[in-house]
Amino acid sequence: MKLGVNIDHIATLREARGTAYPDPVVGALLSEYAGCSSIVAHLREDRRHIKERDILFIKKAIKVPFNMEMSVSKDIVDFARCIKPEQSTLVPERRRELTTEGGIDLISCNNYKKVEKAVGNLKQGGIVVSLFIDPDKSQIAKAKRIGADLIEFNTGKYSEARSAAEVKRELLKIKQAARFAKTLGFFVAAGHGLDYENIKEIAKIKEIEELNIGHSIICRSVFIGMVAAVEEMLKLINN
Ligand code: PXP
Repeated sequence: MKLGVNIDHIATLREARGTAYPDPVVGALLSEYAGCSSIVAHLREDRRHIKERDILFIKKAIKVPFNMEMSVSKDIVDFARCIKPEQSTLVPERRRELTTEGGIDLISCNNYKKVEKAVGNLKQGGIVVSLFIDPDKSQIAKAKRIGADLIEFNTGKYSEARSAAEVKRELLKIKQAARFAKTLGFFVAAGHGLDYENIKEIAKIKEIEELNIGHSIICRSVFIGMVAAVEEMLKLINN
């Protein structure tokens, strides 16, 4: 199982005080040293954490693939085409949300056209495109029609589920969606809200080949350091 480490919240800490530290580039290099498969960073429209400068330096510094998360906004898509990350992940974005709050809705016609255009532009620029969607058959089928190279399931609802029944229901949705996505030939990733506890059941789903995790790893690193935090997560997902 591959692990993509999202380093956004190293920049969140930096921006909390407007200092030059901690540097997400250092976090990316330490994650790479610890054995992650890719580095993920989200250049949000409001630039609340990661900035263009971080993206430039991360791309130059790391050897593992760089996965740039973004909305379908034209200026960010154009920026990605200049930087040429190995992968892009399109996510929905709302200005006032605390974090990404759900998958892209590919069923709504308005969204569909915007996403299709961004996918085309990124692919034309030689960038592999992933779509962050809810674990839902109709969304997966639409992602295929749009030409996504891979998909990432939003595990947010599973992560936020409180009762055992709710956890079971959300887990089943993810399992069934992963199986269906495989029949369409997709490489399947998953992420959002995954931590050192709830990861165990997700890691058992053999159709999921990559997990993208940020917040819980950065939080753990405050106490035990970045290398140990990434290593600990790698151990959980690969046992
Ligand atoms: N995958 C996607 C598409 C995301 O938007 C995020 C959050 O930026 C993550 C994974 C990582 O989520 P978390 O920080 O909750 O681990």
